[in-house]
Parts: sequence; C-alpha cells; structure tokens
Amino acid sequence: MRQWRHFCRVRLFFIFGMIVVLLVGAMAGCGKKQDDVAQNNGKAESSERAESRKRIVRISLGQSESHPQYIGLLAFKDYVEERLGDRYEVQIFPNEILGATQRAVELTQTGAIDFVVAGTANLETFADVYEIFSMPYLFDSPEEYRALMEDETFTKRIYESTDEAGFRVLTWYDAGTRNFYARKPIEKPEDLKGMKIRVQQSPASVKMMQAFGAAASPMSFGEVYTAIQQGVIDGAENNELALTNNKHGEVAKYFTYNMHQMVPDMLVGNLKFLNGLSEEERRIFEEAAALSTQVEREEWECQVEEAKNTAMKEMGVTFLEVDLEPFREKVMPLQQEMIEENPAIAELYQYIQKKKKMGQEKP
Ligand code: GCU
Repeated sequence: MRQWRHFCRVRLFFIFGMIVVLLVGAMAGCGKKQDDVAQNNGKAESSERAESRKRIVRISLGQSESHPQYIGLLAFKDYVEERLGDRYEVQIFPNEILGATQRAVELTQTGAIDFVVAGTANLETFADVYEIFSMPYLFDSPEEYRALMEDETFTKRIYESTDEAGFRVLTWYDAGTRNFYARKPIEKPEDLKGMKIRVQQSPASVKMMQAFGAAASPMSFGEVYTAIQQGVIDGAENNELALTNNKHGEVAKYFTYNMHQMVPDMLVGNLKFLNGLSEEERRIFEEAAALSTQVEREEWECQVEEAKNTAMKEMGVTFLEVDLEPFREKVMPLQQEMIEENPAIAELYQYIQKKKKMGQEKP
C-alpha cells in the first residue's frame, strides 16, 4: 500500500513536471502570441442558445499550429469574434485536415467551407492570373517582391480577378523564397540531372523543373516527407520552414539558396459568403484579414531565422550559397513563353517590370 502511494506521488510529480515543461515551452521563442490566442480558440461560450445562433466560419490551412500563418489566423479569429462574436465563430483547421490545398480550394469555391489559405501555384488551375508568381526569377530580391505585394493597385487587380471562379482573395501571407533541398547537394543546375524533384501541382511548376533539367514529380505538400524518406523523390523546393515545421530537414540534408521563386500564399474566401455579409461585417472581416497579414509577416521574419538555426544545429542540414546566374540562365526563356501562352499575365508582367525599373532609378 505504502509502495503504491509512493508510486502515485512520484507519478503526480512527474505529471506536474510535464505541465510546467509544456507551459514554459509554449511561452518560449517566436510563437509567444500562439498560446494566448490559442486559448481563445477553444473559448467556451456562455449559453447553448447563443451558440446555436452563431454562424461557424471554417478556414482550411495546410500548415501546422506553430506556423506563422496559423498565428496570423488566430489574430483574424480574435478580431472577428471580439466584434461579431454574437454572430460568428471562426474555426481554423490546420494540417490539411479538411483536405489537401487543391481540394480545399474546391470546397471554398462551392461554399462547403468559407476560407482557405492557398499558395498561388494551387490557385493557377482555378484562375490563370496566379501563374504570374510561378514565373521563375520574376523578382531580383525579396525587397522587390514585398514592395509589389504592398502595392494595392497590383494586389487589388489580382484579388478581384477571381470572382467568376466563385472566390475572392482577402489578403496575402509571406511564404518567403523557394529553393531546392535534397538528399544530396545541388550546387549547380547540372547536379539536378537525373534527380526527381517534387513540385506543386501546377503546370508552370512542372515546366520550370523540366527547364532546370530535373524530372518533375507533382504531389501535394503533405506527401513530400514520406516521398523523400522512401526515396520516391530525391528532393523538393520550398522555403526554410518546410525543413522544421514539416520536418523535411530530417530526410533532406542539403538546402540550396538558388531562390527561383518568391511567392505569397493567399487567404481565399467564398464569394457568396463575403457578399452575404453586411457592410459593417465585411469591413470587420477585411480589417481582420489585414491584421492577420501584419501578425503573420512579423512572425515569419522571426521564424525563418529560427528555422535556419534549428535545421543547421539540430537536424544537421547544410545551407549552400550558390551562384544564381547558371540557375537563372536555365529557366529565363520560360518567362517569355509563359507570357505568350497566358495573356492574363502579360499586363501584370509589364506592370512589375515598370515598377522594378522605377525602383532602380530611385536615388
Ligand atoms: C509552402 C507554401 C504553401 C504550399 C507549400 C507547397 O509551404 O506556404 O502554400 O502549399 O509550400 O509547396 O505545397
């Protein structure tokens, strides 16, 4: 009996210890906003009747709960519920729970869910303007890319161009620069010969990979880890967070900064839902979206640095700085080809070139 009590006490201490460790862990690092907003995520409502009157707003996200986009969306949820909490409850579904991104875009189109965060490559097949972001080496620097995304004349035109498809983009999230990572080092385009590299499920991504000289293997994001682990593919291309947040650094130990794309992710809303909101409600949803971008971008800056450190020190990933020129040469002819094949992006391309030129002329 005494032994049993002793065992219980030990177990109690152990559980208590674990709780303390978890609490401290949750408070550390970039994601400090996570836990306070996360508590709100599960906020209990006071009465069941009020609950049943509420419209549940569902958001699908491919990323995990520690990702900057999830943290941005928690700010979105909070902002909406603080102002319209008697009418709306925002629920965020991370980790592709509601389906891989392309499927979730379809569900948003039909109104089965209300919002989805989707990379522009995933939107290409629904609205061809989004192909502009798949153009390799469209931007010469992250600053150039961010300046464009902060330009509302440009974003407004893109956001409003998908009404026919049944959805409207509310805001963008930073998704950094895309680079190769693989089981073996890629230092020059010739190293890609004979390699099988995962690409997003978009025709432009497939073409780009072929132009680089690798075999393109399109698949959804959630399948990449196992595909690399089992040797079905040799590598993939993405930002640094894929190494840590999605654990790809466990199976791919070389990350090459060749920076072939700089792309945003989009918060896409079902158009009928948005049009059904009152003027005041619509304004609040739009303000919430703008706030979520601000939060996401701050978190992004911080998490990218952290991801690099973790990947290097804890996962043994080597980051390779390479000469971009040979990589650019391989794929630059694609730019012209894409413009000729897709008139929807020609004007946007001209706009970007003009903006880049103006930026260069600035003293
Ligand atoms: C990034 C991006 C996602 C995209 C994913 C992918 O994580 O943020 O939107 O789906 O890459 O490569 O599929």
